[in-house]
Amino acid sequence: MSRQRAKPVDELTPRLAKLEHKRLSEEVAEHDKRYHAEDAPSISDAEYDALKRRLLEIETKFPELSDPLGVSSRVGAAPSVGFSKVRHVKPMLSLDNAFSEGEVADFVGRIRRFLNLPEDAALAFLAEPKIDGLSASLRYEQGVLVRAATRGDGQEGEDITANIKTLKHGVPHQLKGSGWPDVLEVRGEVYMERGDFLAFRERQEELAREREAKGLSAAGIRIPVNPRNAAAGSLRQLNPDITAQRPLRFFGYYWGDVSAPLADTMTGARHKLESWGFTLNPHTLLCHSVADLMAYYADIAARRASLAFDIDGVVYKVNRLDWQERLGFVSRSPRWAIAHKFPAEQAQTLLEDIDIQVGRTGTLTPVAKLKPVNVGGVLVSNATLHNEDEIARKDVRVGDTVIVQRAGDVIPQIVGVVLEHRPKHALPFEFPTRCPVCGAPAEREVDEAGEADARRRCTGGVSCAAQATEGLRHFVSRQAFDIEGLGEKQIAAFYEWGWLKQPADIFKLQRHADALMKKEGYGELSVGNLLRAIEQRRSIGFDRFIYALGIRHVGQERARLVAMHYGAPDAWLAAMDAAKANEAAAQNEAWGDLNSIDRMGEVVAKAIVGFCTRAQSRAVIDNLLTEITVEPVEKPSQDSAVAGKTVVFTGSLEKFTRDEAKARALALGAKVAGSVSKKTDFLVAGPGAGSKLAEAHKHGVKVLTEDEWLALIEG
Ligand code: IVH
Repeated sequence: MSRQRAKPVDELTPRLAKLEHKRLSEEVAEHDKRYHAEDAPSISDAEYDALKRRLLEIETKFPELSDPLGVSSRVGAAPSVGFSKVRHVKPMLSLDNAFSEGEVADFVGRIRRFLNLPEDAALAFLAEPKIDGLSASLRYEQGVLVRAATRGDGQEGEDITANIKTLKHGVPHQLKGSGWPDVLEVRGEVYMERGDFLAFRERQEELAREREAKGLSAAGIRIPVNPRNAAAGSLRQLNPDITAQRPLRFFGYYWGDVSAPLADTMTGARHKLESWGFTLNPHTLLCHSVADLMAYYADIAARRASLAFDIDGVVYKVNRLDWQERLGFVSRSPRWAIAHKFPAEQAQTLLEDIDIQVGRTGTLTPVAKLKPVNVGGVLVSNATLHNEDEIARKDVRVGDTVIVQRAGDVIPQIVGVVLEHRPKHALPFEFPTRCPVCGAPAEREVDEAGEADARRRCTGGVSCAAQATEGLRHFVSRQAFDIEGLGEKQIAAFYEWGWLKQPADIFKLQRHADALMKKEGYGELSVGNLLRAIEQRRSIGFDRFIYALGIRHVGQERARLVAMHYGAPDAWLAAMDAAKANEAAAQNEAWGDLNSIDRMGEVVAKAIVGFCTRAQSRAVIDNLLTEITVEPVEKPSQDSAVAGKTVVFTGSLEKFTRDEAKARALALGAKVAGSVSKKTDFLVAGPGAGSKLAEAHKHGVKVLTEDEWLALIEG
């Protein structure tokens, strides 16, 4: 490299210094652009740092060359670490899946029961293709596009306004026509048409070839595997000029926060959205029965290959919006819609090996290492084999030819073995009984009925390197602490160097900054970015905090419910200690309180109490709490008259079904209990109420009729 042979700065003449300064400035500017804007650096951080150091040295010796706006002055300036976050006013949900006519019929049946509709009452669904892209939410205020966000974890996404504004199809910057509400959030899918994708991929391949021909690294040039992947990469560009060159489009299919209702039905809302300038999917149909839905599904499946865009199924939505409102949501999906997915795609290939991976909770998962095979447009080289029993049941052996299947985003699976291709000497697979990472015994838990759990678990706990690093990966993942720059590779390295054993250590990494900068592949820039990303997360929502701990059975939804219930870590931990104090009875007040949380079963409650009170994991929590600030979570509908109250429903309700009553109460922030105690605030009693009514009188609980309850919640 010419720089290594360069003269010491002391020996440079002013003329030579000026020439080199110019050349270096241009070079650094180019790398800055590659790194920040194109997400495609072509040199290592160390090389980049060397360039900048030389530039600064020259400027120190020849101060007349330094330029306050020049590249050298950007040293240490905070580079963008990504997109800023946007909290969704209304969460962005996902959809439940159906794969068969039976599941579609169940979906329709559930809706009829929930709404208490007789068999013959009309119930219409709007059916439309399910686009395989990325969902986005576009916010308009007074008709002007003010913000666009990705879905993120559903509660919080990334601000992609500048990128969305570059789309040439389907996104009006100013709404057309009239009658739009002051606030309108349109939700839909950003995608790339198949033809555009193929042309784009070709351009990228060409670019990579050109670079290689020049002897440059092409590692930064991404070759997308499918249109969805291409759309994702294009939308996540930090430089909107790059997004602008990508052929992205947008189909609207729903809405979020709106200041006034759009219409009475999906079909009505669609017309409105179209009149305001949005592109909606034209291949839709209003269906009136399961048979109609199935016919639509078959029709779209037959036309799938001739559509301009990739789809992975169809979506059915209840057409009446007042019914959608009543049906509401379960967890993260609406009750009023479902995705009817196309069947998985399959291919055959050779099973080269079976790897055992150890997860965050110690589960040993067998992973099939496959000879790479194209399954429905995606190259697959790994597939899950689930567990020991599954391997035995399918008698999968190394050397077998296997059938691989993938459906949408689901991890590819092994469906079965092609026995006629089995090599003579293939042996049945022997599942290890020790953890392949730490050597601790791996055991299968046996439940009270004597049934062995399908999963074998490493008993090493956080002293097993795999469990510890997997736990840390979960901790920094997008839905948890979301720390950019701290990925699998970095965690493994920091763990090995002894800097990072548990979550609290992340917040002490700045102590190792100097040592880290000296490591291969790290530089001032990347270390600075990482430390900044960590500092930004020193304050975190209570729900994310709980989720990040990686407690068994506690996903995002349960973490949120627990966080809302207890409000803050102190109260939560005190309650868990109190519950533990009388575990044998499992029915003290603290247990009862924990169990009153929606979707909380005994197994889950025990896992949470166990995690909070076991010395090893409690130390993890306590250490972490000395490093960070936990923000309380917002409770839903604090302003509703029943928020925080405990309500019991009894008797035969006439105005709504039991499910609906319960769902509405929960949505308003109330707790719904199954039995009356002195902690109950209201008993809503329909005709025929019996023992619960007597209990209520005994405890002095307020008893309401259905109408009184409605008056209370509708206030
Ligand atoms: S309706 C309340 N309609 O599929 C959610 N979603 O797997 C309303 N999607 O998150 C969503 N095409 O990103 C709807 N025609 C369509 C869709 C669609 C694709 C996506 C959407 C959703 C995901 C769920």
